[in-house]
Amino acid sequence: MAMSAHEVVRFLRTHYGDRASEPGLLGNGEWSQAYAFALDGRALVIRVGAHPQDFAKDEVMSAVASPALPIPAILERGECAAGHFAVSERGYGVFLDDLDEQGMRAVLPALFAALDAVRTIDTSGTAGYGLWSPAGVAPYASWQEALLSVGDGPENPRTPGWRAALHSSATGSGPFNTAFAALKHMAREMPLGRHVIHSDLLNRNVLVDGPRVTAVLDWGNAMYGDALYDAAWFLYWWPWFPAWSRIDMGAEFMRHWRASSSVPHRWRDRLLCYQLHIGLEAQAYHAFKARWTELEYTARRTLELLHGRT
Ligand SMILES: Nc1ncnc2c1ncn2[C@@H]1O[C@H](COP(=O)(O)OP(=O)(O)OP(=O)(O)O)[C@@H](O)[C@H]1O
Ligand SMILES: [Mg+2]
Repeated sequence: MAMSAHEVVRFLRTHYGDRASEPGLLGNGEWSQAYAFALDGRALVIRVGAHPQDFAKDEVMSAVASPALPIPAILERGECAAGHFAVSERGYGVFLDDLDEQGMRAVLPALFAALDAVRTIDTSGTAGYGLWSPAGVAPYASWQEALLSVGDGPENPRTPGWRAALHSSATGSGPFNTAFAALKHMAREMPLGRHVIHSDLLNRNVLVDGPRVTAVLDWGNAMYGDALYDAAWFLYWWPWFPAWSRIDMGAEFMRHWRASSSVPHRWRDRLLCYQLHIGLEAQAYHAFKARWTELEYTARRTLELLHGRT
């Protein structure tokens, strides 16, 4: 499925002729590869992958970008020999993941402003909860159902066989089942608001330059549901980044909410509920990928959160 650099060169040559420069590999992602190139001297990125709806969602989101929420514009999408491609503007900066403590502290205000901008995107012309299609339709009638689909629903076609893999792993299904039982209990109490959620705001999807966020990439996993989910994402993954251990991210969120008079109602329960969901999704994903160390980590982290030992 993966497209070699050679094939990308050939595709750009046939598609754009002399207007395109030689591409250079930017990153080999989980779902696509990205190459930087120039078209008529303009810095762009071509991504090639199997899931055209991911690129289409990026396009939908670039239409609602703003200075606080920069999202590279998509210039062209289509099919090619290796699947689907999207050509977009190139974002510059360093990945959020790679920041040291000082760098992270410097960008926190812009990061919170980006999260606020995501939360205020108008969802009135869209429907449903959970992972949305480029047309703005998500499959679940309630947020609760969307959350519970991690353990109740049919297997996600992108992670086939994860249940069996988890079951036969050294970690086993026990930690998943315990956390899922708790999620079932908590999900009932979650609010019904429908906001855009990015749901993958790490993993080299956010570019920053000093105190500025310069690009928020990869909206393929975006959902409709409670905007606090994106805050829970940071809290869940924070300990994975030793460089940030002296930043109390929960306290930073609270400081931001207080300053903007927007402390979320019942934030403690909501953040815990979504962190359980994130931990369950992660276990399913790592089991599918046969990443046993990460599976063990996420299983343990999720139970620790559940038992209030973090
Ligand atoms: N418009 C862009 N500007 C700059 N860098 C980009 C752009 N689009 C993608 N990238 C970078 O290229 C790499 C591959 O991204 P891609 O979206 O193709 O795959 P992915 O599955 O998201 O990868 P990853 O697992 O690294 O997030 C990522 O590190 C991403 O940050
Ligand atoms: Mg990505």
